[in-house]
Amino acid sequence: MSFDFRELLNSKIDKRESLYNRYLNSQLLKVLKTIDFDVTYTKGYGCYLEDLNSNRYLDFLSGFGVFALGRNHPVVKQNLIAAINEDLPNLVQMEASVMPALLAEKLVEVVNAFPAKRSGTNSSLTKVFFTNSGAESVESAIKFAKAFTKKDRIIYFNHAFHGLTTGAISVNGSNEFKTGFGKLLNTTMVEFGSVGAVEKELRAADVAAVIIEPIQGKGVFEAQLDYYIELEEICRKYSTLLIADEVQTGLGRTGKWFCFQHYGINPDIVTVSKALSAGFIPVGAMICSKEIFDSVYSKMERAMVHSSTFGQNHLAMVAGLTVLNVIEEENILENVNTVGSYLNEKLTIIKDKTDIIKEIRQRGLIVGIEFKEPKSFIAKSRFKLLESAKKGLFSQLIVGPLFSKHKILTQVAGENMNIIKLLPPLIVNKEQVDYFIEAFKDVIEDAGSSSTLMFDFGKKLVKGAKEYRQI
Ligand SMILES: Cc1ncc(COP(=O)(O)O)c(C=O)c1O
Repeated sequence: MSFDFRELLNSKIDKRESLYNRYLNSQLLKVLKTIDFDVTYTKGYGCYLEDLNSNRYLDFLSGFGVFALGRNHPVVKQNLIAAINEDLPNLVQMEASVMPALLAEKLVEVVNAFPAKRSGTNSSLTKVFFTNSGAESVESAIKFAKAFTKKDRIIYFNHAFHGLTTGAISVNGSNEFKTGFGKLLNTTMVEFGSVGAVEKELRAADVAAVIIEPIQGKGVFEAQLDYYIELEEICRKYSTLLIADEVQTGLGRTGKWFCFQHYGINPDIVTVSKALSAGFIPVGAMICSKEIFDSVYSKMERAMVHSSTFGQNHLAMVAGLTVLNVIEEENILENVNTVGSYLNEKLTIIKDKTDIIKEIRQRGLIVGIEFKEPKSFIAKSRFKLLESAKKGLFSQLIVGPLFSKHKILTQVAGENMNIIKLLPPLIVNKEQVDYFIEAFKDVIEDAGSSSTLMFDFGKKLVKGAKEYRQI
């Protein structure tokens, strides 16, 4: 073997920072340094990451939800290695291979699990288009909805996040992702949780689809159960499609295969990605009815009218198939429900003992913890100082020490919000939750106290706040 990436990697690992700065996004590196997150990781396994100095980190971020099965799951590894060793005839393009059909069959099975019990509703999610990312799945959903309804406008919600391609930012609920990128699609933002606000728009009869994250990733907001049912009903009333973007909430994250399955609704289009890859090969999918699918592929000359070179990549298909099978074989949904409840119990005990937690929002293993101004004089002053430098900066006072002091990776849940988000791998166990809880207790006590360490970290954050952008 002439080229060996390991030799190159080992010989250049100490040049990481300068190479990254020179060739990649140096602003990101600046952010990581400001919040003390800049670490050279060298290994990942299960719920853990390891750095150059063999420090171990508990990963409650899961690559924004990619590592549902943890990192480098042995069964996914084995199957991918086997697939490479098979010399599969990948990406022939002018062929109709069985491999994507097998993954499509399995996806259709799981998206139709837990069928809606309400009368008058009927799921018809039977067709699949494969993509390479969440945003591409969303782009596909938007295109197919427009083609099927022959309408143009898309309704989305405040706080919404559906990816960062041009179509996807057209339905982004946060202006700063849109600014500077020119004219976008014909879309309208409405308030999450208000059916009336949606219906007002649908009356204009030009709306192709309403796109919703069943639980919003930014801030972890979930509406009342009735809301989803009413939303489905008004979409039907105005012949508008309902798109459930399950890129983050799908594949077990909330304790069912898909989050919409908790509400007894039947969306017209479902998007999926992230966890389907097991973190190995990018893969996504858009699932819809035959009628919607056929409105795009309406005749032979339109057979390639929507396609993507890497969409049905065999390695991606093997990763996806293995993930879905492992979720079943390892009873992952049960683990999400059991460990999720355990985590919620422990978090609630902490919330009841402190004055800085406003609310805990959780379904399965997606958790948002919202903070409020503390009561004690010093902690309150620090809160105000941080908030005046940048709204939402206080949450960094939680995420920062969880990482630097306790080696736990978490994230702030979005711009301008004092909310942190936990997305542990779905294989997480009670011992790992206990470790997190002890660390969280410690950090909460510090954040609500007059600790000088916290004050120094806070000052550093304020200094960096001018340039600092939360991710
Ligand atoms: C709900 C949702 N949709 C779409 C996307 C975009 O996915 P990707 O980053 O793979 O394009 C994300 C990513 O975080 C997401 O959470």
